[in-house]
Amino acid sequence: MATGLLITVNGRQHQVQAAPDTPLLYVLRNELGLHGPQYGCGCETCGACTVLLGAKAVKACKVPVSEAAVGAVTTLEGLSVEGELHPVQRAFVEEQALQCGYCGNGMIMTTVAFLWKYPHPTDDQIREALDGNLCRCGAHLRILRAVRRAAVLLAQEGA
Ligand code: FES
Ligand code: FES
Repeated sequence: MATGLLITVNGRQHQVQAAPDTPLLYVLRNELGLHGPQYGCGCETCGACTVLLGAKAVKACKVPVSEAAVGAVTTLEGLSVEGELHPVQRAFVEEQALQCGYCGNGMIMTTVAFLWKYPHPTDDQIREALDGNLCRCGAHLRILRAVRRAAVLLAQEGA
């Protein structure tokens, strides 16, 4: 049954009407019009729907909106500051990492959380971190380069 829930997304509070077990992804896309998080598999396999819940990357197709209500959600739309792309976004652009782009949201959001935790990652750590994010275009090598570049940009900019 739909109930009123307060969730914080990209620094703003929103009152939404939803059953507590509604996947967060549906609320973000359908109620709040945030289309950065993508619907891919709907079963926690592809990573296209990834958002940040606090400092953790989570798959929004599986997180119930009631769980998200206890923390702060950040979506792809919330990464940029005053129109400036986040360094991880810039690195993906500069490396031309994506082909169709469908996996991009998940790759970028997972990378943001990963680099907070591991600012100087090895290639093996990057591969492991992105293991839950699928790219059907096979752009993995360029994505690996983008994550390396993102680590450099973040270190340079102290972001
Ligand atoms: S749509 Fe959530 S993991 Fe695929
Ligand atoms: S660039 Fe197409 S799915 Fe990754």
